[in-house]
Formats: sequence, C-alpha cells, structure tokens
Amino acid sequence: MDPIANLNGKRMPLADVMIPALDRGFLFGDAVYEVLRIYRGRLWLEEDHWQRLVRSLNAIRITGVDLPRLRQRVIETIAAGPFLEATAYIQITRGVAPRHHGFPATVSPLEFLYVQEFKDPYAQSRQTGAAVITLPDIRWDHCDIKSTNLLANILAAQTAKEAGCQEALLYLPDGTLTEGTHTSFFGVLDRALVTAPTSPAILPGITRGLILRLADESGIPVEEHVLKCDDLKLVSELFLTGTTTEILPIVRVDSQFVGNGKPGSITRRLQEAYAKAVAEFVR
Ligand code: PDD
Repeated sequence: MDPIANLNGKRMPLADVMIPALDRGFLFGDAVYEVLRIYRGRLWLEEDHWQRLVRSLNAIRITGVDLPRLRQRVIETIAAGPFLEATAYIQITRGVAPRHHGFPATVSPLEFLYVQEFKDPYAQSRQTGAAVITLPDIRWDHCDIKSTNLLANILAAQTAKEAGCQEALLYLPDGTLTEGTHTSFFGVLDRALVTAPTSPAILPGITRGLILRLADESGIPVEEHVLKCDDLKLVSELFLTGTTTEILPIVRVDSQFVGNGKPGSITRRLQEAYAKAVAEFVR
C-alpha cells in the first residue's frame, strides 16, 4: 500500500506532497518531529509521544499547533489505508516566511504527517544480534529536543553502515557514551541494567521509558548512570531501543564481542516482556 500523507489538513498520497521552498524546516531545519509505531492499526505509546512533541515544540518556541486536531488527522490517515503494521511520521516546522534567521512576526506552523506500512528490517537481527561501532558525538547541546537537524546523526549512521554495522554508539570527548544515531542504548553491568539518565545529551526515548518500566515489573535492577567507552569491555550485554528497532541486542562493538557474542538473558527477558506488552495492547 502506498503511504498516505496529510499536509496542513489536506490528505493526499505522500508522493503528491509539495513543501514550499521557503518553509523554515527545509531552509533551516527549524522543525521538530515524532515517529510512532502502529501495531494492528493502533498508535503505540501515543500519550508519551504527544507529550514529547509538546515539549519539543515548547523548547523551540513553535506555537499554535492544535494537538487534538493533529491527532485526529493521524487517526484518519491510518483509517484511510487502512494501515495495520505501520509507522506515523509527524513533522511540525515554524512555517513559510521570507528567509531571515530570526523568527517571522507572523507565521503559521506547517503540519506534515504521513503513515506508511512497516516492513520490519530488524526481524532477523533482533534474534541474532547486531554489530555497532563507536564514534565521536559531534551533535549540539540540546539532543533532548527531537529536532530535524540530524546531519551529525546521519553522517555517523552512514559511517556505521560503511563499516558493516547497524548503528553507531556516540561518545563525548571525555569518553561518556550518549546514545545511538537513532536509538537509545542499555548495558548490563554486574547483572543490573544500566542506561544514561535523561539530560540534554540524549533524546528521552519513548521506548527507553517503556524498557525502564518493563525492567521494574520484571524485577530486573536498574541503574540510571552513564557508561564510558572503557565500560564496553566490562558489560555482559548491550542492546539498542527505539520505536521501530524495539529491542535490538548488540553482540559486537568495534571489533570486540559483547559477553559471549550472543544476545544475553536479560535482553531476552526484556524482548519477551516487550512482545507481551504489545500483545496485550492489540488484544
Ligand atoms: N529515532 N535517540 C535518537 C537520537 C533517536 O532519533 C531516537 C528515535 C531514539 C529512540 O527514541 P524512541 O524510543 O522514542 O523512538 C533515541 C526515530 C525513531 C527516528 O529518527 O526515526
């Protein structure tokens, strides 16, 4: 099925969407976005995503977005398919205005979204595990804002791809690991689950939040503190999380195996808990 879009309230095939050249999202990356997973036609963890969208909009001072109306457009687009296993991409830009760096005096946000079928590219590697490389984190000081300024992310993702890896883990000059280019990540150290605390250095991943809740329910001890590059030699398990990634075991970092080189037992337990949560959601 072809993807279906909605631009400022008008539904159309994604291929027909035309964005004005003076849109500030296009010119400046003056925009924020969300990606939601749709399981069996229903938006997964939607409340968390709307909250994060509002937070991002507030952070870059875009006003005038009617959230219930935006939500209604997403729901109608899903129904128009109808889409069952899919993703929804939502992007809000500051709008279209003559090109000046400061905010225009009067401008309406451009509200763009599309829904497309999800053909799971991770099915195999969720079982076998993935390889990652570590790369310097050259992003800005507000990675907690889900902005469309993803140049540093895509360059690192491409370097990872060219190295035959599925993702890059990013590190700051002092060796602190932050996150992946499009994923959060967790380690297992001394049988406890470890992930970086929320801070301006990472996106507060919605899946990350769910994993923390699932770990708690499963009686898996959790510690929110950063891992350093040197810790990668000590962890017994590592995994990535994200809206489309779900939980993806990492079995190799740079050229070193993680643990015994196979997805670990805590990762497996959390994958099962995740699958159960989705099964209950769609029931
Ligand atoms: N990426 N960190 C970064 C930098 C991300 O871009 C993402 C999501 C995540 C995971 O967040 P969540 O669990 O809310 O999906 C972490 C989306 C999916 C993307 O850009 O396509």
